[in-house]
Amino acid sequence: MKILVTGGAGFIGSNVVKMLEARGDETVILDNFSGANYKNLEDVKGEVICGDVLDQSLYKKLPKIDGVIHEAAITNTTLKDNNKMVNVNFNGFKNVLEFCLTQDIKLVYISSAGIYGNGDSPMKEAQKALPHNTYAYSKYLCDWYAQKVRSEHKTPLIVGLRYFNVYGSGEYHKEIAASMIYHLFLQMKEGRRPRVFKHGDQKRDFIYVKDAARITVEALDFNASGVFNVGTGIARSFNDIIEILNKALNKNLDPDYLDNPYAGVYQDYTEADVSSLKKIGAAAQFSLEEGINDYVNKYLL
Ligand SMILES: NC(=O)c1ccc[n+]([C@@H]2O[C@H](COP(=O)([O-])OP(=O)(O)OC[C@H]3O[C@@H](n4cnc5c(N)ncnc54)[C@H](O)[C@@H]3O)[C@@H](O)[C@H]2O)c1
Repeated sequence: MKILVTGGAGFIGSNVVKMLEARGDETVILDNFSGANYKNLEDVKGEVICGDVLDQSLYKKLPKIDGVIHEAAITNTTLKDNNKMVNVNFNGFKNVLEFCLTQDIKLVYISSAGIYGNGDSPMKEAQKALPHNTYAYSKYLCDWYAQKVRSEHKTPLIVGLRYFNVYGSGEYHKEIAASMIYHLFLQMKEGRRPRVFKHGDQKRDFIYVKDAARITVEALDFNASGVFNVGTGIARSFNDIIEILNKALNKNLDPDYLDNPYAGVYQDYTEADVSSLKKIGAAAQFSLEEGINDYVNKYLL
């Protein structure tokens, strides 16, 4: 199959491209490189198109495509330009969806656990969205629009994946938006005390990129339309990460606890309800310990 991966030069997109190619699929990568790193495309064989998902003329020039994985988005949640955020993330998504409708090809697009805000945990796909920032709101709009289109069209299948906190190889270009695990690793490797908000007991559902990318590729084969949480189903604390990194780096650094300036809009606890994902036969395989050790030993040291 020939699969179009938008945002394919980014962190998760490039891992998806490599997994698709490893299983024998051809890839076409569409990315405007606004938040990507060309190094993520080393060893990738697919055609690279430097273009913007907002550019409607571009879709007419694409080769014949059998399915789309839409990863492209502005992912820096602290961006202050709300117009740009919603335009790229929502209108860009609508363009990709329109392309899939006209070609009648499957779409797997990426939403976010951010839409749950500080809602109840474990977070269920059907619960009320409580987006706390424009980024999360832009993803909420995508889910809402996808549901509207599903109710009007039987085909193509449209699968939305709400990633929880993804970490792993290929994220270094994301700077402030890179995972907590990557930031804590950099501090601790240099022998600095890891800095976390008081008292490190915030919990998140951290999922390793090898799991997130594999589930995304598998979603092309789901015989289902709908939105699915992509997490491990287990919330772990920032203190847990520090303990695992101390062991991986053979250090014994105590956390340096800071006041949280984002209190009230900060997700203190996220945990995915993964029962819908399990029902269609998909699941994360790496524990936090296994994921961090794989990441540190194979990619960071
Ligand atoms: N990393 C996480 O923990 C996480 C969690 C939830 C959801 N997500 C979602 O997963 C997807 C991938 O995120 P990521 O972490 O790999 O981030 P990333 O920033 O590394 O990847 C996004 C990619 O999209 C590209 N892009 C941005 N605007 C574009 C445009 N207008 N046209 C074409 N390409 C454009 C960027 O250049 C980049 O390569 C995003 O949709 C993101 O919202 C990520």
